[in-house]
Amino acid sequence: MHRLKLVIVAGARPNFMKIAPLFKQIYAHRSGKTGLNPSVEALLVHTGQHYDENMSEVFFRELGIRRPDINLGVGSGTHAAQTAAILTSFERVCENEKPDWVVVVGDVNSTMACTLVCAKMGVRVAHIEAGLRSFDRTMPEEINRIVTDALADLLLTPSDDANDNLLREGIAREKVKLVGNIMIDSLLDNLPRARSSGTLARFGLLPGEFIYVTLHRPANVDGRATLGALMAGLSKISERIPIVFPIHPRTRKMLAEYRLMPPQNDRILLSEPLGYLSSLCLAENARIVVTDSGGLQEEATFFRTPCLTLRPNTERPVTLTLGSNRLTKLDSLLDDVNDVLAGPWRRGQVPPLWDGRTAERVLREILTASP
Ligand code: UD1
Repeated sequence: MHRLKLVIVAGARPNFMKIAPLFKQIYAHRSGKTGLNPSVEALLVHTGQHYDENMSEVFFRELGIRRPDINLGVGSGTHAAQTAAILTSFERVCENEKPDWVVVVGDVNSTMACTLVCAKMGVRVAHIEAGLRSFDRTMPEEINRIVTDALADLLLTPSDDANDNLLREGIAREKVKLVGNIMIDSLLDNLPRARSSGTLARFGLLPGEFIYVTLHRPANVDGRATLGALMAGLSKISERIPIVFPIHPRTRKMLAEYRLMPPQNDRILLSEPLGYLSSLCLAENARIVVTDSGGLQEEATFFRTPCLTLRPNTERPVTLTLGSNRLTKLDSLLDDVNDVLAGPWRRGQVPPLWDGRTAERVLREILTASP
């Protein structure tokens, strides 16, 4: 019987926790545990969009992801340069490997570039985390989502709103499958290790008595005025409650350029970007998460940790309607933090199919859609 060949693509930090459960499921399938056919061969391609030890390698180590079979090593650049580098090098991968499916996740430049290559070559694409929309085309990720979903053959969605978005865009209903949130598979798999990671002790923090802050969106960190005002806001908040603030490389670069780096003290704990286990531990134990990350909005929702998202919109509306998330902005951040600290805060509920079994459904859908 024909053996199905998958090429699974990951490029940037938020991709790694989405591919780990899929590989685990493929290994289970290979050892006969799923009872499904045909057998599957999977290659891992890392585009190299993220390359620092703490933006990439640490996730492979902590999540037990195999070494990439191929690393395209594209590195950083403008959107056009980075996308173009992935296009030319991934086209060669498809020519050499002739996969039956390419599986892409999320909404980063690597996701869109690899999908575009496949569409031109007639290689089928499955997109995990399809259908999310912020309706804000100033976000590079929104462009990536729209292009990827327009071209992919199998759209694997995390929540009902994503299905609605895709159908509204005229995507054929039979291509769209609700599978749930694959990131929660990783979360549940790794929670015991996150809890025993010693992260709170390392920072000298007590559960429920700190704010976990992450910032990296261009709209928040690339302009001097906004970034300066955000740092002033954090400094004010830290007078009430300690803040732990791991700094993304983009943010570090801008803080250095504008000379806005906050002073390290016992109220504002700065660090390099954290690994997966430490970040989960902080998200579970924080009094509040303040972030502009997509993934952290979801993790906070899962943990029922109050989350303030520093963005005018979110492509993950279930975190607002069902979860513990609220959008905020520069001017209202302080009031919103005080509001949460005054309590009570709607802790919300975990959305349907955020149950740790998404990878199982993903693999079943791919096998079912294969001729
Ligand atoms: C990318 C994704 C974003 C995701 C984020 C998570 C796109 C369009 N954006 O944004 O959706 O939320 O990753 O981190 O794909 N850099 C390093 N080391 C690295 C990687 C980057 O120093 O390992 C620096 C470089 O100066 C680079 C900058 O960070 O220019 C930005 O990296 P890039 O991949 O372009 O975008 P992110 O802001 O990380």
